Amino acid sequence: MVAYKSKVVERIHLPSRARRERALEEAGYNVFNLASEEVFIDLLTDSGTGAMSDAQWAALVRGDESYAGSRSFDELEAAVEAVMGFSNVVPTHQGRGAENVLYGSLLSDGDVVLNNTHFDTTRAHVANQGAEPVDCPVESAHDPTADEPFKGNFSLESAWAVVDDVGAERVPVVIQTVTNNSAAGQPVSVENTRDVAAFADEIDATFVIDACRFAENAAFVARREAEFADTEIDHIAREQLGYADALVMSGKKDGLVNAGGFVATDDDALFEQCKQRAILYEGFPTYGGMAGRDVAAMAAGLREAVEEAYVTDRIEQVRRLATMLEDAGVPIYTPAGGHAVYLDAGTALSHLPPEAFPGQAMVCALYQEGGVRGVELGSFAFPDTDRPELVRLAIPRRTYHTEHVEHVVETAVAVLEESESIPGLELVSEPEMPEIRHFTAELEPLSS
Ligand code: F0G
Repeated sequence: MVAYKSKVVERIHLPSRARRERALEEAGYNVFNLASEEVFIDLLTDSGTGAMSDAQWAALVRGDESYAGSRSFDELEAAVEAVMGFSNVVPTHQGRGAENVLYGSLLSDGDVVLNNTHFDTTRAHVANQGAEPVDCPVESAHDPTADEPFKGNFSLESAWAVVDDVGAERVPVVIQTVTNNSAAGQPVSVENTRDVAAFADEIDATFVIDACRFAENAAFVARREAEFADTEIDHIAREQLGYADALVMSGKKDGLVNAGGFVATDDDALFEQCKQRAILYEGFPTYGGMAGRDVAAMAAGLREAVEEAYVTDRIEQVRRLATMLEDAGVPIYTPAGGHAVYLDAGTALSHLPPEAFPGQAMVCALYQEGGVRGVELGSFAFPDTDRPELVRLAIPRRTYHTEHVEHVVETAVAVLEESESIPGLELVSEPEMPEIRHFTAELEPLSS
């Protein structure tokens, strides 16, 4: 059941094929270098790219820009308490600002941090404190065809193996990322969250939930975890998040805003530490890194994110794209995650070895064919790791309609039909840090 109609529109257009080919060449075969005007359907990310509701736009106008004691901050505090169950909030400019504030307060040199899978910025912030990020995904996480309901779960077996190896005193922080973005946006069960909370308690670690996509995760729990079959989304979200000692949040995802984030905790001592660090890096603690109007819009967005109609519309659109692609024979990671469909480029472009970057070749082909911009998450983005060659098509929230989705499917089908003639790529230039090379590196097609 469709839950929205349009009130404001933005003109888009598909540049000619000749223009797209030239743009791609000028971008060094890296779609991060494309101007947005060159892109028809932009599925690069679901982060900060969604549409706000009329209620959020109204909140924006009412935003209180006071440096201290902003009324908009009171609205955010009330929303975080009502939706997520935490009473202390430190606003930040976005999710990575929250990571800096929280992990800078909790970590020091030589620590080890466990996470179902660290998102790039999480990994970087943990490392930036001199700590070592260790991923503990379940075995099926990187299997594109395993038919399991919670492939985003945290593996306690792997976590215990690390603790047995390094000692519990070196692991002060345990993180669970819901949904698990770096494992194809797969959900995490509440049962797994309970078990991880108990584990963190046992080793005396602070249990943090990266709550970016907490509402989408709750929607999967309602559909797949028997205990919650008759439970409302907002109850599930509060219960799952309630097991954590602290949250890091990017408001650009399930806060339904274009910018913003926060740390939330019930631990008063940790709250004090985070506030002091936020003053240093973000801003006074009643606005953090945000304008008052954005704080007000995020307060409204958090409440909308757990509305049944919103979240159903959201995950159903992603599921529909996945089903249409599957029906058309396009290989994808299954089951589909919450914010994106991940194409299995290793299978689609099986003539290309990992060193010819099949995922990036597919990203380029999707843009050339239909002006669709996705992002590679394979051997180009994660050098020297053994991951499937995936291409993420992330769906901005409340932004695209069925016609757009149909265009994406037609484009992917056309790419698949000509897949054997798609050339691999080689690197021409890359920055110093391999972890972030995919944002700026330049490539060119291999001559066959
Ligand atoms: N944690 C997770 C799980 C994320 O997916 C992101 C961002 C962040 C933290 C950082 O938040 O961007 O507000 O600073 N993910 C985006 C993406 C960028 O495209 O998946 P941020």
